[in-house]
This record gives sequence, C-alpha cells and structure tokens, in this order.
Amino acid sequence: MKLRAEDVFRPGAFPEYTYISRKSAVSDLSYEFRLTQAIKVSGFLTSLVGPSKMGKTILCEKVIGFENIVEISGADFGEDTDFWKLVAAKAGLAYEGQFASEKKIEETSDRYTKRETFSLTKDKIIEYYKKENLVLVIDDFHYAPEEKRMQIAQQLKDAIRRGFKAIVVSLPHRADEAIRQNADLSGRLSLINMEPWEVADLKEIAMLGFSRLEIKIEDEIAEQIAVESLSSPQLMQYICLNICTILEMSGNQHAQIGQEILETAYRYTTANFEYGDVVSLMKKGPNTRGKSRNTFLVKGGHPCDLYELIVKSIAENPPIMKLEFEDVKKRIYGMISDDCKKPTPQAIKESLAKLQELLHGREDIFKVLDWKEGVLYILDPLFLFYLRWGGGSK
Ligand SMILES: Nc1ncnc2c1ncn2[C@@H]1O[C@H](COP(=O)(O)OP(=O)(O)OP(=O)(O)O)[C@@H](O)[C@H]1O
Ligand SMILES: [Mg+2]
Repeated sequence: MKLRAEDVFRPGAFPEYTYISRKSAVSDLSYEFRLTQAIKVSGFLTSLVGPSKMGKTILCEKVIGFENIVEISGADFGEDTDFWKLVAAKAGLAYEGQFASEKKIEETSDRYTKRETFSLTKDKIIEYYKKENLVLVIDDFHYAPEEKRMQIAQQLKDAIRRGFKAIVVSLPHRADEAIRQNADLSGRLSLINMEPWEVADLKEIAMLGFSRLEIKIEDEIAEQIAVESLSSPQLMQYICLNICTILEMSGNQHAQIGQEILETAYRYTTANFEYGDVVSLMKKGPNTRGKSRNTFLVKGGHPCDLYELIVKSIAENPPIMKLEFEDVKKRIYGMISDDCKKPTPQAIKESLAKLQELLHGREDIFKVLDWKEGVLYILDPLFLFYLRWGGGSK
C-alpha cells in the first residue's frame, strides 16, 4: 500500500514512520533506553523534564506502548479531583458503583435483589495496574493546580513503594518543587532531562519520511529545513508535511524541492500559529503614559522604536534560540542606517528587561523569551519560527 504524506509526517501525533531515536548528550545512551531502564527500577518515580514540543509524550508512548500506557494530563486535575478515582477511571476501572446481588430468604424461599454499593480501594487500583502491567504517565504536570501537585506527589510516593509505576512529565523549572525538590521523594527519583534536538537528528526525519514517500530531497535542503525547525521535531514534521501538500497541489509530486517551495512551505506552516497578539504586544512595549519614544531609522525602512528593533533583531538570520547580548546589539546596529544615531547598550538592556517583565505577567502563550544574565533565550521555537515566516517582524 502506498503511504500518504499525512501518515508519514505527523506533527500532532505518534510518527510511526518517521520516529527517530536520539541519544542524550550527557550519557550517550538513547532516551528510549534510559526511560526503559528507569521504569524497570521498582520503587522509583520517573521525572521526565524537557522544553516544550521536544517529544516527551511521544517518548513515553514509544517506550511504554499504547497497550500499557495510561495518560493523565495535569490539566485533568481540579482542586477537588480525587487522585485515585481519576487514576482508576483512566484505566477503565469503575471506582464507585452498584452491583445487584440476589438473596434468598431461607424461611420463605422468597428471593429479593439487594443493591450494594462499592468503591474501589487504592490497594485494588494499585494491584490492577501491576497485574495489567500499566504505567501511569502524568503529562504536563505543570498544568495541575499548584496546591494539588503536592498531594499528587504524596500519593505517588506511597504507591511507588508498592511497585506502582509512574512517570511525571513537565517543562523545566515548573512544578520542580513538588517532585524534584520534594525531600520526601529524594533518593526515589529517576531523572531524565530531555535536551533540544540537534540539526542532524531533525534532518533524519526528512530523509526517512521523504524516502518512505519515494520523493527525492537533497541533503542540503533537508539540512536547511532542520536549521529552520529550531530544535523542534514538531516543526520539522509540519514543514515536511506542507512541502508534500504543495507538491501534491502543483500536480507534480516529483518536482525538485527548491528554495521557492521551501519558503512557501514555511509561510504555510505559520498559518496555524497564534502569536499575533504576542508580537504586537512586544512591538508596542510597556505603556509610555503618553510620552513618545526615540525612534531609529532602519535601512530601507521606516523609523522604528527600540521595541520594534528588538523584535526584528530576534527574527534575523541565522535563526538562534539563545542570543548573547552582543549579538542582539550587533543585529540592531546592523539594521540602523549608517549615519543615524544608535541606541546605547544600556537602553537596549533596559528595554529587554521591561519586555521580559511585560510578557511574564501574561498568560503562558506570552512567555516566549527569557532575558537572563546577559543572554536572551527564546523559549518557544514555534514563536521564533512565526516571527521569521509569519510576517510578524516585517
Ligand atoms: N522521536 C521523534 N521522532 C520524530 N518525530 C518526533 C519525535 N518526538 C516527537 N516528534 C514530533 O514532535 C511532535 C511533538 O512531540 P510531543 O508531543 O511528544 O512533544 P512534548 O515534548 O510532549 O510537547 P509538550 O511540551 O507540548 O507536551 C510529535 O507529534 C511528533 O510529530
Ligand atoms: Mg506532551
């Protein structure tokens, strides 16, 4: 059977045909091996931490398998959610219910049906998980309400002692206190930190996928897509899928994949990303309370204030997720017309700090960058990609 592009490149689901196994830089062991090993250690809780969209959920699904995995999201928990009730329900167990039992009254031989209620005990649930070889994955743990996280950790601590298997998945620096910094759990944790993807591994997704589809792609083109994917396998899958769609629509599946197709695919890919509000907030910067800001004349463009310049500088070539201050400054100075005045380094630093404050006071989608100790970190690869190809910086 001929495979379809959407079966091969799967940005939102398990990529059966383009799954890539990576090695963790620290240990030189594959992530699959490390997770398998961690699950085998009885009495330990596994904590898997990594940046957004790096393949944490997919790794759990690969290693545990769909038959044995029970996935719960941190977002499934409200303040009053009963932990064991949820854990039972997700495994298909009825936690509470009624059953009918028929009883006979000896003297009269009358039969009557008695309704009895039952509720599963935590012990029974743990037994069931062990018997069926199930592994509980609490995904996006940071979405659980803060007060709830400690309670969950408490329940897990007790259960893992009895051979219950669980993995807690979260973003770096979030939810740390409940799991990794919880003294009760120390010495009972297997820690796996997932690193961002390298260009070579991302490139493999394209090489493997296009070869499965019998579409030719130059090595150098696959590399370019990998660089543009900014360490995100999801972006890589997305762009490759869009390239296939463009080829299909052009009616020539075997057309050469060149620069023009690439750039169209990049632009199509941004169509589903919702960063418009983030970009406009960044360009506007904090409220000036009526005062006007200094502007700088950009080469071949219109005057921009410092906030607009910062946004433009982030989007410049080459795409980088971690910019030293000197790079930001160099990019900004490079954009301003030669004989025009330039912002001072101090002013740039102040604006970066204000930008950070502005964004971090908002919802999660706004937390796209971190300005820390002279380095500007872009936290969300999809945001940087949007900025480069969504027209956001123009
Ligand atoms: N090992 C892999 N090989 C190929 N593609 C992958 C791999 N891991 C992840 N991907 C791609 O990246 C997408 C996102 O992966 P996943 O949902 O596991 O990320 P995540 O780290 O759990 O993200 P989030 O932080 O949003 O929960 C997948 O749908 C898939 O397209
Ligand atoms: Mg996930």
